[in-house]
Amino acid sequence: MRQFILYAEKASTSPDFSLDDLPGSGGRMDLVARCICNALWISHALRRDTCIHVVACGSPNPPVVISFYGDTLRGVSPDERNIAAWIKKALSRKRRNPGIIIRKISFQQLIEELASEGEGTFFYILDEKGTDMARLKKLKEASVFVLGDHLGLPEKEEKFVERFEHEKISLGTTSYLASQCITVLHYERDKNKI
Ligand SMILES: C[S@@+](CC[C@H](N)C(=O)[O-])C[C@H]1O[C@@H](n2cnc3c(N)ncnc32)[C@H](O)[C@@H]1O
Repeated sequence: MRQFILYAEKASTSPDFSLDDLPGSGGRMDLVARCICNALWISHALRRDTCIHVVACGSPNPPVVISFYGDTLRGVSPDERNIAAWIKKALSRKRRNPGIIIRKISFQQLIEELASEGEGTFFYILDEKGTDMARLKKLKEASVFVLGDHLGLPEKEEKFVERFEHEKISLGTTSYLASQCITVLHYERDKNKI
């Protein structure tokens, strides 16, 4: 399973945001939706071997972890508005989708949970100042990629991930959008078939 974690500092934890204002009332829900799209969709198909966990830390009730699972997701299309609409439904607990799970846990609880899930869970923290990814021979199989949003990953959370098996990796000196990093990571893994 390929796994991504997006720390979304401002993402709304209430369904009361407007689909016409994802950046403002949604607390950069546009960014969140783009990351989910890039994590799960390829042309005409879903990546059934991938999931993405969004740690929403915006008002009014943070934190909330919203997980999208490619193997069980149904009826969602890859546009930002539709993905955001499903996040609204999930947050309101009115309509269920087997591939979207909402939980009232923190970033650190999520990390602990994934670390204890099985042998070999390895966290790659995406950080411009990390080890250049071009220098890595191969990515570990049970990898979880941890990304920050437009504000980056808070130091406190980064330090917490460092307690577990991890490496900081860089895609170079250009600061990319988190959603672009996800595409590059998939590309690297697709190339190497892991
Ligand atoms: C737009 S960047 C955030 C920029 C923010 N000012 C910071 O200092 O982290 C969003 C996230 O994408 C990842 N990222 C962006 N460019 C990267 C790069 N060249 N190498 C590794 N990760 C990168 C990091 O996880 C970052 O937190």
